[in-house]
Amino acid sequence: KQHIKEAQAFTTEDKTTLEEFRIKYLGSKGLLKDFFAEFKNVPNEQKKEFGQVINELKNTAEEKVKSIQELLESKTESINLFGDLSRPGTPINIGSRHPISLVKNQILDVFSTIGFNVSEGPEIEDDWHNFTALNLPEYHPARDMQDTFFIQTNPDVLLRTHTSSVQVRYMENNKPPIRTISPGRVFRNEAISSRSHCIFHQVEGLYIDKNVSFADLKQTLLYFTKEMFGKSKIRLRPSYFPFTEPSAEVDIYWGLKTETDYRITKGTGWLEIMGCGMVDPNVLKNCGIDPNEYTGYAFGMGIERIAMLLYQIGDIRMFYENDVRFLEQFKSSL
Ligand code: PHE
Repeated sequence: KQHIKEAQAFTTEDKTTLEEFRIKYLGSKGLLKDFFAEFKNVPNEQKKEFGQVINELKNTAEEKVKSIQELLESKTESINLFGDLSRPGTPINIGSRHPISLVKNQILDVFSTIGFNVSEGPEIEDDWHNFTALNLPEYHPARDMQDTFFIQTNPDVLLRTHTSSVQVRYMENNKPPIRTISPGRVFRNEAISSRSHCIFHQVEGLYIDKNVSFADLKQTLLYFTKEMFGKSKIRLRPSYFPFTEPSAEVDIYWGLKTETDYRITKGTGWLEIMGCGMVDPNVLKNCGIDPNEYTGYAFGMGIERIAMLLYQIGDIRMFYENDVRFLEQFKSSL
């Protein structure tokens, strides 16, 4: 009974002391072992009481060991939680930039090194900024080229079909010299396929100063393609835009190294990457700039096409589906 009292009073915060306690009472050479061995020598009439007492001692000692063990374990666990920095952490799922943003930023970087600033404007536009100021008066046949989404017809409110509208706004609010690029989302009512979509992104550029010539435009394009793609084999094909005269389309020779190259360039190795030209004097006039004093060039490109080439993406629809298996592949390209 004395042992029971002692066992009940026992307490420790130290594992070794606890182990000593366990060995003393419950070990293979411990007290209880002795008591149980003694049991057969106890006279019959005392067996019952003796048995009860040693059982109580056994339970007390066992419970004591168990409860102190649990206490000590919970303590070391909470110490580890804060103290053991070698424990593996829960991974934080950091996002990735969208490939359109990656390519857009790259384009902006290239032009910022040659003095272009960045300008932005609204996605919902009026007729003046998207068409009329750009030399597409009402009933101009080239309006059909644009497959416009109209939100409202009187007065005309629409989703911009190109970021040339931003250039108009910029010219209205700034005096030359102007060197600006305008990135943004544009909308056209086109059939969706692997090559085209009704929403896409553009970067358009505008340079206006005294004596700007077509040679300046061509040199800028050579510089851009060299910086952006590491190669500058390009060709300019005469073309038509209402807001530029003369106008051209720019193709880059990309080659046919992969199946995706083959698909994107329709098997020619050449891909049209932008439209460009000398700003039409009517546009300058419409925006309050004197065409007798200033000339300028403009260009516009689709970001998706360039991203498809650079990242070898065979289907434009991938950009808008937001499938994480697709997006995760750009994690390392922050
Ligand atoms: N705005 C034209 C388009 O969206 C591109 C372009 C811009 C062409 C500037 C010439 C000059 O197709």
